[in-house]
Amino acid sequence: MRRTLIAANWKMNHTVAETNVFFGNFTVSLHTDIELLFCVPFTDLYQTKHILKDTGIKWGAQNVFPAPKGAYTGEISPYMLKEAGCTYVICGHSERRQILKESDEFVAKKVKAVYDNGMIPILCVGETEAERKAGKTKERLQEETQAIFLQFEEPPTKEIVIAYEPIWAIGTGEASSPEKAEEVALYIRELISTEWGKETSQKIRILYGGSIQSNNISSFITQKNIDGCLIGGAGLKPNELHKIYQKASIKEEE
Ligand code: 13P
Repeated sequence: MRRTLIAANWKMNHTVAETNVFFGNFTVSLHTDIELLFCVPFTDLYQTKHILKDTGIKWGAQNVFPAPKGAYTGEISPYMLKEAGCTYVICGHSERRQILKESDEFVAKKVKAVYDNGMIPILCVGETEAERKAGKTKERLQEETQAIFLQFEEPPTKEIVIAYEPIWAIGTGEASSPEKAEEVALYIRELISTEWGKETSQKIRILYGGSIQSNNISSFITQKNIDGCLIGGAGLKPNELHKIYQKASIKEEE
């Protein structure tokens, strides 16, 4: 059975002082089958590590550069993230693809670098509003996943997470319908199955992201192929994130 993953992506929010305030106000009773993860800004990593170590809550990063070290001004290596205790690293969030023009190939190299360094990549994929309207959602997902397949000579034996985040649903308050998200998650699983085989495709966790809140989380994680959520805005509010996690736990107990 795939473990549920509830992941908060803080994006460019929270100084160290604000991180202290957040965790001072955040309470949760962890459920063994539901992972909770905070992907925080680089500057918050060590403080987050200090606060969360021994709690069972995981922390991770939002980006990485796909090289071990060297002349890459302003970038962060996988090894640096590993040393900071990151379990997961988000790769290819749509904000980076759109604002910083990261290509599918570059994102795929990040996924491989994270994987090779013993952390779990969270590959973000998803279509724009224009692509959705033009009926090109599947085509876009195929391109994004194909780039990953090209990086691996063999099917991966360790974990990779894929987050389906339709770009039009991010920060808009207009989530995808759970049924549509399930249809897309199933399609992604089929793409993986074709390339890497059924067994691998059944192990890979697929998340949904885009306007998740406590009042809609249940309808997403009860879908068969959706194994958790990647949460933006709601993950910055301690009470709201607490409620989201609680609702995910109720699903597991049903
Ligand atoms: P929102 O939950 O704010 O829509 O953001 C989703 C997201 O981009 C998570 O990575």
